[in-house]
Amino acid sequence: MSDLLTLRRPDDWHLHLRDGAAMQAVLPHTAQRFARAVIMPNLKPPVTTTTLAREYRDRIRAAVPQGLRFEPLMTLYLTDNMPTAEIDRAREAGFVVGCKLYPAGATTHSDAGVTDVARIDAVLERMAEVGLVLQVHGEVTHEAVDVFDREQRFIDDVLAPLVARHPTLRVVFEHITTRAAVEFVRGARAGVGATITPQHLLYNRNEIFRGGIRPHYYCLPILKTEDDRHALLEAATSGDPRFFLGTDSAPHARHTKENACGCAGMYSAHAGIELYALAFERAGALARLPAFAADFGADFYGLPRNEDTITLQRRPWTPPASYDFGTDRIVPMFAGESLNWSLVS
Ligand code: DOR
Ligand code: ZN
Repeated sequence: MSDLLTLRRPDDWHLHLRDGAAMQAVLPHTAQRFARAVIMPNLKPPVTTTTLAREYRDRIRAAVPQGLRFEPLMTLYLTDNMPTAEIDRAREAGFVVGCKLYPAGATTHSDAGVTDVARIDAVLERMAEVGLVLQVHGEVTHEAVDVFDREQRFIDDVLAPLVARHPTLRVVFEHITTRAAVEFVRGARAGVGATITPQHLLYNRNEIFRGGIRPHYYCLPILKTEDDRHALLEAATSGDPRFFLGTDSAPHARHTKENACGCAGMYSAHAGIELYALAFERAGALARLPAFAADFGADFYGLPRNEDTITLQRRPWTPPASYDFGTDRIVPMFAGESLNWSLVS
């Protein structure tokens, strides 16, 4: 087995960069590995307009370390009140690739999200017309629905009808976590894809409770069963172009995770390709990593594939206990544990 793996430079099709000093701290990790990333708009306040997206993009571009090239692909945060004219402005701007649907209350900074998708039907129709992609956080939010069932219920109650109502809208079902989601995407019409995170490929829900409660394994959608994890691994390593890389790296300051009410999100940008290499290698499918990481997402978004490459080497390394995060610290995935692939260049 070769000790070097050179692949087309990948892109991250789902990333939280935050803003200010926090963004400055985490952006280098992504920019060292990925050429482009789809930047989530769930800031406080959310990125709801093209003007806000332009300003945020400028701040990101200004923070890219010297010597690295990185292109932020911006998204707008959908609300009940988004005017259709905003979709036209986003399209004209050129740097906005899509709009993110957060069901109100589903996750971090989603309180301004959409309360009922029926309210945004006109906006979705305009998005389909101008070719913007809908990125979906696929969980229902009713208190009565078990947290482990929220994705499946969303498919039946919201996503399947939405995809049928808007037959030309391109939809990315973000960070899928269940066998049901894999099956939905496989059976869906053309123009429906999904991103898969490293944590949902590497862990099942036992990890949250292994020997005690472990807040660094808490993310949304929450980790699911071993059967779900197998379905995701099978989808990611199958060579099916509808499934592609999106880390959902979501940094939170250490004290906000190690807390009586800890935030949802796992930080993975420091090893954003290495973690997938581990998962694919364990599945005996390393040869399928390059297309999943670097081809299928670009093709789905209708963007050119990158032309340069990165190289990974089979050399163990251990992510530190924490990284700098502005005035705080963040605890990364695999902190203090050994990873088998290292980024060379
Ligand atoms: O775990 C999560 N963290 N899931 C999300 O949907 C949002 C994200 C965040 O922004 O922290
Ligand atoms: Zn996310």
